[in-house]
Amino acid sequence: MSDTTHDELTHENFDFRGFDLPDLKAVTLNAANASGKGPKGSGPDGANGDTIGGAGKAGKSKGGNSKKSEKGGKAVAKEKNEKNGVDKKSRPGLFTPMELRGITVRNRIWLPPMCTYSVFARDGRPTPFHYQHYVSRAFGGFGMIIAEATAVAPEGRISPCDTGLWEDGQIDAWRWIVDGIREAGAVPAIQLNHAGRKASTGCFALGYEGQSVPEEAGGWPTVAPSPIAFGGLATPRALSVDEVHGIVGAFAAAAGRAVTAGFQAIQIHAAHGYLISQFLDPLCNERDDEYGGGLTGRSRFLIEVVDAVRGVVPEDMPVLVRVSATDWAAGGWDLDQTIALAKVLKNHGVDLVDVSTGGIVAGVSIPVKPEYQVPFSEQVRLKAEVPVTAVGLITKPKEAAKVLSRGKADAVEIGRAGLRDPFWPLRAANKLGVPVTEAPYAPQYVRGAF
Ligand SMILES: Cc1cc2nc3c(=O)[nH]c(=O)nc-3n(C[C@H](O)[C@H](O)[C@H](O)COP(=O)(O)O)c2cc1C
Repeated sequence: MSDTTHDELTHENFDFRGFDLPDLKAVTLNAANASGKGPKGSGPDGANGDTIGGAGKAGKSKGGNSKKSEKGGKAVAKEKNEKNGVDKKSRPGLFTPMELRGITVRNRIWLPPMCTYSVFARDGRPTPFHYQHYVSRAFGGFGMIIAEATAVAPEGRISPCDTGLWEDGQIDAWRWIVDGIREAGAVPAIQLNHAGRKASTGCFALGYEGQSVPEEAGGWPTVAPSPIAFGGLATPRALSVDEVHGIVGAFAAAAGRAVTAGFQAIQIHAAHGYLISQFLDPLCNERDDEYGGGLTGRSRFLIEVVDAVRGVVPEDMPVLVRVSATDWAAGGWDLDQTIALAKVLKNHGVDLVDVSTGGIVAGVSIPVKPEYQVPFSEQVRLKAEVPVTAVGLITKPKEAAKVLSRGKADAVEIGRAGLRDPFWPLRAANKLGVPVTEAPYAPQYVRGAF
């Protein structure tokens, strides 16, 4: 495979819409904080002893105490006691299957959600492009294929060309993709999203890239917790409490449609500055009602979405949440709050936390380098005792294997390297000396094995 140097890959390539508007003091990750040795209660809510998701809520969660999720947590806790690196033999490899509730994922190399902005008809329905894109990567050996940020409401699309699951008419367009992924041996998952103040932006097919699309060109007014714009995008309108409840319902309805389409796992997008992370982050959420204020209030929307989604999906279906572990901005969302949140998510039946960073506030500087987000997944895994995935410039098979063998994550996600090489997992198997018989080849491709 072509191992790309990190010089070619910058944070600007990401889909974070992190437009370069230096309106905030840039911060780099403090090494002490990343290693979990930061000052206790240094977060705005840690200091005042605020907690998220009361016991009553946790009790209400349908799947919160499932045996499987307890099992995951205990395994993490056991490793914590054994110290990193001591019990290497019990740690999984890239090709070790992984159980999540009722499903088994064939390996720990997953395709993260990546928008393709390719619904040119603007009706939210995936097309033959999406079929070949996802199914080819399932044949390429990925264990879980997490389909791109898919809107739970038309006004929640990042661009007019996003996929959607906001109406029943979109279900059939997903079915053949889901079936194709499953037939190729991978687990089909879907990321559900509402883009909030980062909605109605342009894309390659439409133009207006990095800008708000004007209404006359098919754009729409945006909404957010508070009327604060992201960078140079249009200023959003603050959502009413009734509207917040409506969006919680939209997430649940979209999750129900995903189940009908055959998806085997749901990922809730609470990262990268889209609506849910706008609520989480004190720099975007200035509400003085029950959805703002301390960590409890700012997390309420996400926890309600999790409960609502858990309430409609089967008991044995995994629910994942993607978070940004920091917004890389002074006074904003940080690792301490992420760990506190992850503990609550676990109690509400979330089976795995997908740990990313950034995208929430514009104009911050991010120390992008290979595996730069791995310290965050490691800390969330150890401190919240919840299974996690690591993502972000993991491009080399040996390095990816080390992330797992050192207990820094339970699975890795290969994004842009998986865009340029749909067969990344099969190529990795070859590089790591995994026999063809144990690599995730579909029978049709064995004779052309690496
Ligand atoms: C083209 C593109 C589209 C993306 N779209 C999404 C998305 O829909 N949802 C999401 O959570 N992250 C999205 N991301 C972020 C990726 O999932 C991933 O976290 C990021 O690319 C870092 O991983 P990598 O270095 O392996 O590419 C996108 C990234 C790229 C490059």
